[in-house]
Amino acid sequence: MAESQGLTLTVLGSGTMGIAIMGGVMATLAESRMRENLPSSSAPKDTAPEQLPAKFIACDMRIEAEETVKKALGHYNFPLTTLTNNNTEGTKKADIILLACKPQGFKDILGAEGMRDALKGKLLVSILAGVTQKQIEDFLYPDGLPEGGCRVVRVMPNTASFVRESMSVIQTSTPPLSDQQHKLVTWIFNSIGRTVSLPPASMDACTALCGSGPAFFALMLEAAADGAVAMGLPRAEAQMMAAQVMRGTTGLVLNGEHPAILKDKVSTPGGCTIGGLLVLEEGTVRGNIAKAVREATVVASQLGQGVQNVNGTRR
Ligand SMILES: NC(=O)c1ccc[n+]([C@@H]2O[C@H](COP(=O)([O-])OP(=O)(O)OC[C@H]3O[C@@H](n4cnc5c(N)ncnc54)[C@H](OP(=O)(O)O)[C@@H]3O)[C@@H](O)[C@H]2O)c1
Repeated sequence: MAESQGLTLTVLGSGTMGIAIMGGVMATLAESRMRENLPSSSAPKDTAPEQLPAKFIACDMRIEAEETVKKALGHYNFPLTTLTNNNTEGTKKADIILLACKPQGFKDILGAEGMRDALKGKLLVSILAGVTQKQIEDFLYPDGLPEGGCRVVRVMPNTASFVRESMSVIQTSTPPLSDQQHKLVTWIFNSIGRTVSLPPASMDACTALCGSGPAFFALMLEAAADGAVAMGLPRAEAQMMAAQVMRGTTGLVLNGEHPAILKDKVSTPGGCTIGGLLVLEEGTVRGNIAKAVREATVVASQLGQGVQNVNGTRR
């Protein structure tokens, strides 16, 4: 278990997300090291746990993944071990385990010989879309959580983890995680963006808003660029400009500006902005975007029950 040099973080499934999350953690550790080396450190006080990850074990089933992981993360110079087809060994050596395989793969991994023993007393963080904490716990412990069993935590990050701009939702646990466990999970996911904690009943809506959200916003961004291209702007510039405008807008909102006030502020009487806004309202864009989130929420709830290819709220 944990020793003074820091914790061992093991990732089961070193694909896109596994690498992005390990990369975010390593980058954050490297940044805080640099801050500590500043002559008069202006490092912000944070809510870091007492112990942070310091060693990493990346497990996968393909030998090629070892090279990919080393290429992506080797330059951070943290102790990094890669294992192929050896999830149990990686889990034995871990303090905290990130489950990052495909959703349908968790039973193969967690059902392997020796895995339940290897997991004893540890924290297992699952980012599997559509797989509930209860499904994992019921699979591991069909007779109920034993004394000293592992704690399972569900977190939903999104694809922007890659650029450390994820919106990750940490599902609240019952009974609650210890203070240190909660701080550790929050710290890990803060290293790839922002976090919020919400109860299990909110996870389908979170999957829709945060998981599907990048696709929704990408469509809006692309449509805005299309309009500018139609009016003569070059495609590459139009796309970059649309993306920067979206980023600037989100920056203002995250800085405390209310979206409705922001909209009113830039709508000069008789001006071009109010003209464009009214076209959007005529097209019921607002209602349709909200409906898209509701539809995705309903479909997400069905996926959690193993039902695929369904419609949600729409007929
Ligand atoms: N991508 C996203 O934006 C996103 C957002 C939120 C949540 N998630 C969730 O995150 C998880 C990972 O997604 P991803 O996009 O990173 O998928 P991915 O790139 O396919 O990564 C999954 C990795 O797990 C490996 N794997 C499969 N079976 C394994 C086993 N038995 N032991 C060890 N490794 C195994 C895969 O190897 P092979 O390639 O050989 O199969 C692959 O390298 C999924 O459950 C997904 O629902 C993803």
